[in-house]
Amino acid sequence: MALLLNHPEAKNKATSEINTVVGSNRLLDNSDLPNLPYLRSVIKESLRLCSIDPLLVPHESRNECTVDGFHVPSGTMLIVNVYAVNRDPEHWVDPTSFKPERFLNAQENKDFESAYFPFGIGRRICPGSGLAMRVMLMVLGSLLQCFEWERVGEELVDMSESRGFDVCMRKPLMAKYKARRFMLPLFS
Ligand code: HEM
Repeated sequence: MALLLNHPEAKNKATSEINTVVGSNRLLDNSDLPNLPYLRSVIKESLRLCSIDPLLVPHESRNECTVDGFHVPSGTMLIVNVYAVNRDPEHWVDPTSFKPERFLNAQENKDFESAYFPFGIGRRICPGSGLAMRVMLMVLGSLLQCFEWERVGEELVDMSESRGFDVCMRKPLMAKYKARRFMLPLFS
């Protein structure tokens, strides 16, 4: 939501997609999610730019092995710098910009498939990723369907991050919202 408030054109695109797919006679539900590719791209791009676990979770090699030519002794702690991978110009065009379209139009990127793993990768990949995506799509989609959103002032939302294992916004998000008129009958 913070990124959308700073990029009203993306917010409008996501809202019009919901208007077209869901309409105004009912609330967005689970069955709509596969039909909202732009909203899904907004979530994916947010996870790329604002990684919740920028260093994933530390792993340790049980046996010695060779990875891409590097010898890894057993007992080595492996920390993956997802933050750097997510902003690597080798993989992403204009990596520091918020561009949900990059996930719709694969040609816009060099080789992002191998560089995108917000939920980790391999055998210890996050088992909650499916649930997490659904919940994020449902929550953000419902907020956009039901309310109009604006920044509190002219200034952009401060996107600076807190320190810690899981990263949050340093300053909690404040935003102005009002119910969309045509949703009022549904609320009552
Ligand atoms: C946006 C939401 C979420 C993100 C970005 C996220 C990300 C991650 C990451 C990066 C890992 C570490 C993967 C690795 O070790 O390489 C992980 C592990 C894990 N996640 Fe999530 N997660 C999310 C939501 C959830 C949810 C909703 C659940 C459960 C309902 C969940 C359950 C777990 C569990 C149990 C592990 C440990 C898996 C293991 O070590 O074998 N996560 N998650």
